[in-house]
Amino acid sequence: MRLAQVLFTQGFGTRRVCAGLIGQGLVSIGGRVADDPDEDVDTDGLRFSVQGREWQFHASALVLLNKPAGYECSQKPKHHPSVLSLLPAPLRTRGLQPVGRLDEDTTGVLLLTDDGTLIHKLTSPKHHVPKVYEVTARHPVDEAQVNKLLAGVVLDDDPQPVRAAACEATGEHTLRLTLTEGKYHQVKRMLAAVGNRCEGLHRSAIGGLTLADGPAAGLWRWVSSEERAALLAPR
Ligand code: URA
Repeated sequence: MRLAQVLFTQGFGTRRVCAGLIGQGLVSIGGRVADDPDEDVDTDGLRFSVQGREWQFHASALVLLNKPAGYECSQKPKHHPSVLSLLPAPLRTRGLQPVGRLDEDTTGVLLLTDDGTLIHKLTSPKHHVPKVYEVTARHPVDEAQVNKLLAGVVLDDDPQPVRAAACEATGEHTLRLTLTEGKYHQVKRMLAAVGNRCEGLHRSAIGGLTLADGPAAGLWRWVSSEERAALLAPR
């Protein structure tokens, strides 16, 4: 692929801006200044730097953001900044979108991608991608509540009960809940349906992706192709 096209596909601006960055000697590959926009480069495993910042070539982008509280999962946020403001400009230019939404006060694992097909697959209940939530509840969590969440509760917008794929109390006021779908405010509404109230919500995992090795709150990392394949593996 032409070097100018590489930069363009990776979100570094218009074709003219990308050619300009290269022509000004601001792009390096393997420590060598690459100043010819027409240079043909192999994108497989390509690493390059733009204005001193290292980048990896990704034909499609999938990143994991450790969402802090106080950010909205919307392109046009109403009351708080958008989670997109936590991403660097090239990823925003590529049009990354959150895979499903977390509420403004929910923290933890949020995937973002520019691959619409992947968003569809990861959010479709058919794919059963498990999402694990750590809940802090206002009232003590008891066995009856856990059993109801596992058996299924009816929410106000759908007569079909929704059930937790897994649920366990992790403390007097905390529980771990696994869902394979993602309805609006689902965890909060499920807690309310069993007579409790969600006062804190953290998503600790999607599929096998956790925050065990970071990133820290407010930071992001690339999701590897192996991790991407594991997310979509049949369950
Ligand atoms: N369920 C909720 O109620 N809120 C979230 O942010 C995610 C799941």
